[in-house]
Amino acid sequence: MIVDDKKQYHTGLTRSQIGNAEFAILPGDPGRVPELAKALDKNARAIHMHREYNSWVAVIDSVPVLVCSTGIGGPSTAIAVEELAQLGVKNFIRVGTTGSIQKNIEFGDIVISLAAVRLDGASTHYAPIEYPAVASLWLTNALVNAAKQLGIPFHVGITASSDTFWPGQERYDNYSGYVLRRFQGSVEEWRKLNVTNFEMEAATLFTMCSAFGLSAACLCGVIAKRTESEEVNLEAYAMAFSRLAKIIRGAITNHPNYL
Ligand code: URA
Repeated sequence: MIVDDKKQYHTGLTRSQIGNAEFAILPGDPGRVPELAKALDKNARAIHMHREYNSWVAVIDSVPVLVCSTGIGGPSTAIAVEELAQLGVKNFIRVGTTGSIQKNIEFGDIVISLAAVRLDGASTHYAPIEYPAVASLWLTNALVNAAKQLGIPFHVGITASSDTFWPGQERYDNYSGYVLRRFQGSVEEWRKLNVTNFEMEAATLFTMCSAFGLSAACLCGVIAKRTESEEVNLEAYAMAFSRLAKIIRGAITNHPNYL
């Protein structure tokens, strides 16, 4: 249900405050919102900050676009998607960082998700586990076309969305050094199943948007190469950031009405 001008409890946003935006760009990190919003529109402005939800509004080619962080993982992403959908947002683009699990995917490359493996819990509160977590065909194609036009190295594939950064992504450099048996060997298994990468929010976003009849897409910059190590490479983020912003701008400029 779309609400009139009620202030949303967690994000603290109202419909008029977001300029009736139907597009939302969703980075995980609240700290990355200002830089991203300004890369999309140099006149972007801050509108509200509450908990992990930092919100700015940008205008791209006359289209109002909300940039709102989700925090890390499914539960906080589900809250953002719920509240923004109730404010009339119809197209959601998650942007973030990722660990690649295929050898040909390099640091700084962009991975655009076709679908997500549902290793999260939040999506099961919206649809049974048999229901697929798929991206919007139109929004995803728009990202792909923009990346192609810009000559940016990108890959399209199935993303595994885990509730945890350590055990669910089979990282042994955790506090106990132990990974549950169910996750031991999982990186290699997903790799053999042609999964491209790990992140933590796409499955929740895709499941909710498909179930709600809304559009969702996801693009991430590679900051870890899990075929080589468990470490993240912060320099790779700087390289990926400008690529991610350019692709988003291109996708929205070329196709203002997906839904
Ligand atoms: N984000 C993740 O969830 N995993 C990584 O390896 C890197 C970024």
